[in-house]
Amino acid sequence: MNTISANQLLPSAGPSTRETEKAQSRASVRRLWREYLKPQRVPLFCAVLLMLVIAATTAGLAFLLDPAIKFLFLEKDKDLLYLIPIVVIVVATVKALATYGEGNIMATIGQRLVADLQLRLFRTMVYADLQRLNVTHSGEFMTNTLNNVTLVQQASVQAIAGFAKETTSVIGLLAVMYYQDPALALVASGVIPLVILNSRKQGKKTRKATKKQMAETSILTALISENLDGTRVVKAYGQEEREIARTQASIHRRMLHQLKAARAKLAAAPVTEAITGIGIAAVLFYGGLRALDGEFTLNQFMSFLMAMMLSYDPLKKLSNLFAILSQGMAALAQVFDEIDIEPEIVDDPEAGELVLNGGRIAFNDVSFHYGDDKAALNNISFAAEPGETIALVGPSGAGKSTVLNLIPRFYDVTSGSVEIDGQDIRSVTQESLRRPIAIVTQDPFLFDDTIAANIAYGKPDATREEIEAAARAAAAHDFITEMQDGYASYAGEGGARLSGGQRQRIAIARAMLKNAPILLLDEATSALDTRSEAQVQQALRTLMKDRTTIVIAHRLSTIIDADRIFVLDRGRIVEAGRHGELIDNGKLYASLYSSIFDDTEKTSVLEAGE
Ligand SMILES: Nc1ncnc2c1ncn2[C@@H]1O[C@H](COP(=O)(O)OP(=O)(O)O)[C@@H](O)[C@H]1O
Ligand SMILES: [Mg+2]
Repeated sequence: MNTISANQLLPSAGPSTRETEKAQSRASVRRLWREYLKPQRVPLFCAVLLMLVIAATTAGLAFLLDPAIKFLFLEKDKDLLYLIPIVVIVVATVKALATYGEGNIMATIGQRLVADLQLRLFRTMVYADLQRLNVTHSGEFMTNTLNNVTLVQQASVQAIAGFAKETTSVIGLLAVMYYQDPALALVASGVIPLVILNSRKQGKKTRKATKKQMAETSILTALISENLDGTRVVKAYGQEEREIARTQASIHRRMLHQLKAARAKLAAAPVTEAITGIGIAAVLFYGGLRALDGEFTLNQFMSFLMAMMLSYDPLKKLSNLFAILSQGMAALAQVFDEIDIEPEIVDDPEAGELVLNGGRIAFNDVSFHYGDDKAALNNISFAAEPGETIALVGPSGAGKSTVLNLIPRFYDVTSGSVEIDGQDIRSVTQESLRRPIAIVTQDPFLFDDTIAANIAYGKPDATREEIEAAARAAAAHDFITEMQDGYASYAGEGGARLSGGQRQRIAIARAMLKNAPILLLDEATSALDTRSEAQVQQALRTLMKDRTTIVIAHRLSTIIDADRIFVLDRGRIVEAGRHGELIDNGKLYASLYSSIFDDTEKTSVLEAGE
């Protein structure tokens, strides 16, 4: 499993990394604003306005206590008996409406942000190089797309909304306090720096724990999806308990990290509360002292106290926000990292359309290796002339599939070049390169969609007649009509409801419908029984006519029909020629032929061990 880079697991080392980390998170926040939030600035602005209303009404309620007590309790003014409660109700209603409106707007902004980020991540994944997908576990993508994006949303939306709302509330309430008694207000606000310090400390802890938790979530997602994919292997080898133990360990580690994050998050609010308790005590003491001296009236003190109590709630929320923000920062960095991965196989800026002229495929001294592995292909040179059928044979692992993978640029050559009709495939757009190519592989993938949709995958506007014609040509029509819903039957996840041979025939029908001038067949009929093989073989022969075809063959019939045969061994072409010539050569082909082909059956597998 290759899901976590080492630096994610290590706590930040020195001050220098901490500095860069800070700079990075600042850059991430700026980018979040520029690319994702700025387009929503109108609703954001409305939300901020509503937050100001909330802050003003909160402060207003505290302030109202002063005249309320003064006129009602001290001066016993009957006229105001009705007015003041009505004002209170109005203010409270305005506050409630503003709170609902603000929450609503922010939720919408947040969900849009989630959707935007998810789509960007998915885009990156769809366009990612095969090379990269080979080493990245799907679990990592899933965690990012589902889990981390939600963390980002919570952080950005709750943080923006929260910081604006709670800070303005605190400021409004502080204004009331300073208005009522500046000296006392100074005492009361003494706790604020302490609250901020505590929040930042807890925030840091939360961020660290969150990073680890995210890494573990990737691992867990990977384990779960792997077990779902490999259910049969797990059952067949009786390894259920081992898988449970493996997953349990991951669940446990994730739980610990999550608890750590939750604890840091939880600690923020109570510590703030304790600190504010000190504030209240100080104010009571100092205020009481002054009241004893008669410097302070009860109504003023009540209003002050109310303002102070009310301000502690936003303070508490602010300290929580630090924690949420820290979580979001950790997730944001990872999400952006993922979004930023640029595929290496991209269109040249000057790439033109591939101009087809018969479909001649040429390999010029091509060498290739996957990642850092040893070379899979060494100095391969050959050409398939327009309309020709070339067969590649050789033992398993010789590099036959790799040759095919290079033609549609699933991978780029390490050295040398691949040309189609004289144009280096790296000099034309990928879209124009892949359009004229149809591929059928040994283990074709079907989408969990209808059979008809699967056949029409490369030509979504195909008519029903075209689809059926393709299916007939691929000897698939009969078994399709025998299925419960015929062409409308679902293929199941990855095509799981069909047999391997049925999947291959659907894939062949798909290629037939695409009607492409270049045909690449990678053991396209390996899963077929003799009878359907014969039918499909006939169809393939029709399909191959007038098309440049490269076929990785393991059936003698295909090989004998080929215009030329190239024998691969350990990434090199060791022999070339027609069947008869190669037999006469008496080298690798001849020995493959005698040892593996069953001449009488003509259906055996050329590849040992597959
Ligand atoms: N995605 C991959 N990543 C790394 N190595 C690979 C990958 N696919 C194939 N290989 C290696 O490249 C070599 C050639 O493989 P392949 O072309 O699939 O052989 P063949 O199709 O002839 O059986 C093998 O040694 C195989 O291990
Ligand atoms: Mg292969």
